Amino acid sequence: AAIRREDYRPTAWLVPEVSLEFDLALQATRVTSTLTVARNAAADASPTIRLNGEGLEPMAVKVDGAMIDSWVMDDADLIVTLPGDAHSIEITTSINPAANTALMGLFASNGMLCTQCEAEGFRRITFFPDRPDVLSTYRVRMHGPKTDFPVLLSNGNLEEQGDDGDGTHWAQWHDPWPKPSYLFALVAGDLIANSDSFTTMSGREVALNIWVREGDESRTGHAMESLKKSMRWDEEVFGREYDLDLFNIVAVSDFNMGAMENKGLNVFNTKYVLADENTATDGDFDGVEGVIAHEYFHNWSGNRVTCRDWFQLSLKEGFTVLRDQLFSQDMGSAPVKRIEDVRVLRGAQFPEDSGPLAHPIRPDSFREISNFYTATIYNKGAEVIRMIRTMAGEEAFRAGSDLYFQRHDGQAVTCEDFVKAMEDGAGLDLSQFRLWYSQAGTPKVTVRLEHSGDTATLHLSQDVPATPGQPDKHPMPIPLKVTLFDPETGNRAAGHDGEQLVTLTKAQASLSFPGHVRRPVLSINRGFSAPIVIERDIAQEELVFLAAHDDDPFARYEALQDLVVRHLKDAADDRLDDGARKHGRAAIIEAIRSVMADDTLDDLMRGELFILPSETYLAEAMPVADPGRIHAERQALRAAIGAFLEDDFVALHTRASDVPYSLEAAARGARKVKTQALVYLAAGNPERAAGMAAAQYDAADNMTDRQGALMVLCGLSAVERTNKLIDFYNRYQGNPLVIDKWFALQASSMHPSALEHVKALADHPDFTMKNPNRVRSLYMAMAYNPHAFHAEDGEGYRMIGDVILALDPINPQTASRFVPPLGRWRRIEAGRSQLMREQLERIGKAPGLSRDTHEQVSRSLG
Ligand code: ARG
Ligand code: ZN
Repeated sequence: AAIRREDYRPTAWLVPEVSLEFDLALQATRVTSTLTVARNAAADASPTIRLNGEGLEPMAVKVDGAMIDSWVMDDADLIVTLPGDAHSIEITTSINPAANTALMGLFASNGMLCTQCEAEGFRRITFFPDRPDVLSTYRVRMHGPKTDFPVLLSNGNLEEQGDDGDGTHWAQWHDPWPKPSYLFALVAGDLIANSDSFTTMSGREVALNIWVREGDESRTGHAMESLKKSMRWDEEVFGREYDLDLFNIVAVSDFNMGAMENKGLNVFNTKYVLADENTATDGDFDGVEGVIAHEYFHNWSGNRVTCRDWFQLSLKEGFTVLRDQLFSQDMGSAPVKRIEDVRVLRGAQFPEDSGPLAHPIRPDSFREISNFYTATIYNKGAEVIRMIRTMAGEEAFRAGSDLYFQRHDGQAVTCEDFVKAMEDGAGLDLSQFRLWYSQAGTPKVTVRLEHSGDTATLHLSQDVPATPGQPDKHPMPIPLKVTLFDPETGNRAAGHDGEQLVTLTKAQASLSFPGHVRRPVLSINRGFSAPIVIERDIAQEELVFLAAHDDDPFARYEALQDLVVRHLKDAADDRLDDGARKHGRAAIIEAIRSVMADDTLDDLMRGELFILPSETYLAEAMPVADPGRIHAERQALRAAIGAFLEDDFVALHTRASDVPYSLEAAARGARKVKTQALVYLAAGNPERAAGMAAAQYDAADNMTDRQGALMVLCGLSAVERTNKLIDFYNRYQGNPLVIDKWFALQASSMHPSALEHVKALADHPDFTMKNPNRVRSLYMAMAYNPHAFHAEDGEGYRMIGDVILALDPINPQTASRFVPPLGRWRRIEAGRSQLMREQLERIGKAPGLSRDTHEQVSRSLG
């Protein structure tokens, strides 16, 4: 049954204190939990307390020290009757971490024990009111064999530890900050730390440790630097100081997600901790920095102020994503980061918003909360708060944020509380803006600029599409940054000095700009000020002009993208005769050439401008897409650009190859355009590209160059492809994160036989369904490789169907993440659409399907 947001009721019983005792063993860990419970004066009284459990059996239950047998089970939950107003409840359970392949609750990874409790994993450890509005202080005592578990960690501060003299030892931790159960964590294992310290703005010294398996410590430097930068940045930009004497991070190789913000003890997927130049790309370095920051920032946006219920998930995730995005903008190139973030939004969130899984950033109902850790909650959530910041200005936004943290410190609150604090603190009226929290779907704004006499008139109209359960929508407030250019001078049009923020609040509006004797060129939604689709009625020449002259880097990128999107849409829809095709290509080639030649651009931005819109994004821009046509047309355009500009790309590659390795922007930019050049050459002159890629591979003194070269080779049918794949495997055997790349490069390649390769790799001895990183590196890479996934005979769909069915009993959370690509069936041409649906129906009929996968499949067919 679905859980509905409107059904929220405060809990009858609170748990101010928790004491946990763990007797650790890989196959049988005994947990004794003592809860101090008290009636919640703010709720209706109840004679019973509901303690959530999942797969648990109570071995013993005591109330106020006396064994009771009056408890009952309601499904998986334990119900205990409590006569008075305050009691202590003691419960003993036993769990098998080694058998826990779902990786929720307490599980084993490479011989170590660790936990993942968000959202509802704590109930797999012990019976508890496992909801985020129950805040408790935790004392954790753990005990186990010294050789297996030399390091014993939990939240907060280490209070005491001791040796039992019999080969076992123990540690006792105490976290003074009240927290919900989803922030509980425990780690026990053979780990070593990279240790450092940080002095906070008020002068407190914090010990920092990054715990990894022996041999990995040399690859933790970047994570440590990122952590210290994050701590400083949050003080300077948001006024947030760290609040414990200790901050621990542990890297784990079996993990469903990126990382987890447990209070004082963040647990990370190794992918977001370990990095050095030989094993991690520039993109991986950015991933580490961004995720370290994200989890650290949760200490305030998530932990000190947490969520009342899981419908409010975006309260912490949207805000924290915005915070990590702003941080990364400050650490590197702000415009490039903005473009990357928009690309992620369009690639992952727009398809969500336009498909069967569409939901508002604050959903109204769900069956399984794990399915709602989505790009909508995270990335659109961040965009919504970014709009508040754009409308308020930086200073007022900070005042709103300060008020939010001050007003709600120590509380479990709602998105509404956040919006109210922003209104009060930043001085905004957000009454209509609240629609961004309740309405799903990406608004489409149609834009037309009319010019007559000396007046330019901007006509805007908006349409918010219908989404499942929301057939009728209200107009939303849409903040648009706008400026006008004089096409003859290339400057801002006279009488229009600077950028304006125009907020469209109605279905339609028109705005006049006087003083334009010549027709100006409109630049709109600059910086992607609103997360919407713009449909602009604008001449190709004007797009070419903006692609070359717009002084907002995002708008410039956007003009180039639009130019290509228009052309490819027309081509894939058979709307181009030979002349029009030639003309369109010529304009694009010219635009790429001017990007190449423009020395006001740095290479990081140049590389960004070179990236063609993805096939997924192109499909999204068409009511019904033919993935085969889109792929063919996009590759043909790439080949035309590569062939026409062959010498320029070779020269660019040579120039960039001379830049020595460093993490500086210029060197990173050089690496980016170097591989971009190979990508175009691979399409335009495959033979030449194969030779150059092999040479780049051999000369590489870093993973970015090596992976880039291998990525290009993977798409080609050249002998170098096989040679370098073998070399890469042999070179990095034993480094799981790099072997993940080896799988992913082949599964995401442009090679016509990519699907065959995936099939063969599934039988590789290094492949396993038990490790989520490995599963993703093979199958997620394939599911997001359009020409492989959308193979005309349906083989890609069938393979993903098989993966879902095989993975579901092992790890339902990861299995259900493979459903959304199949859920796109309504937007795909009839033949493939039918085959996609058949797979969904086949999965839906399977007996014993998890709640996770079942919910996604039934919504997708819905
Ligand atoms: N709160 C974590 C983060 O975004 C993600 C945890 C997701 N857990 C889950 N079971 N889906 O930083
Ligand atoms: Zn998060």
